[in-house]
Amino acid sequence: MSKIVIALDYPSTEEALALAEKLRGRGLWMKVGMELFTLGGPEVVRALQNMGYEIFLDLKFHDIPNTVRGAVASAARLGAGLTTIHLSGGEEMCRAAVLGASAAPGLTVLGVTVLTSLSSEDLAADLALYGVDGAAPSPAALALNRAVAARNWGLRGIVCSPHEIETIKAACGSDFICLTPGIRLAGGATQDQKRVMTPGRAAALGSDFLVVGRAVTAAPDPEAACDLVLEDIAQAK
Ligand code: C5P
Repeated sequence: MSKIVIALDYPSTEEALALAEKLRGRGLWMKVGMELFTLGGPEVVRALQNMGYEIFLDLKFHDIPNTVRGAVASAARLGAGLTTIHLSGGEEMCRAAVLGASAAPGLTVLGVTVLTSLSSEDLAADLALYGVDGAAPSPAALALNRAVAARNWGLRGIVCSPHEIETIKAACGSDFICLTPGIRLAGGATQDQKRVMTPGRAAALGSDFLVVGRAVTAAPDPEAACDLVLEDIAQAK
């Protein structure tokens, strides 16, 4: 069964907690990302946990292996259920992250494959910096290669576009966790997301965690919008 994670991308702790309060009782997870954590720190995580929420601490760690191991261990001590690292940090860093979570069976480390903001041109420009001429992989091909590497390095899942669920699960196994942002209700505004999908369709494709941000947080009635997301998923099953 797909779980729903609400992205609390707010510039203030008060706004984030007010929405979380309104959405209580629906079995949701809450995503605390860089914007909210930089401001609200561990206190905002504890306040959400006190409301009964499971936490996705989405800080996308990318540093030397020892530092990432320590950061993931801190996320475990905070009681987060999910956290993220950049797979571009390499094998040693990724294995260190898995080690950091090893004492906390409740924490799953997910790898960010390729940022959805990066185009083929961006990847080619990056390769040129390494002195490599020629064709760069497409973001989707790189995402798949990184997902396979992540599984080999001991990670239990990745963050990907809902359009990549089928290919990645086919290559990595159906129990390899796919967490998918880019979720929009049918007819909803897409904002800066380029490849969106409805909650029901993403759930039917096997998304394990659906990250829903502005489809709920920017709706005139966030509670009603959240219930539409849940209905869409229930109907798709
Ligand atoms: O508002 P929206 O539903 O587009 O929010 C998506 C959330 O998922 C944001 O918090 C964003 O940081 C996150 N995200 C994303 N694309 C990725 C990784 C994370 O949109 N590739």
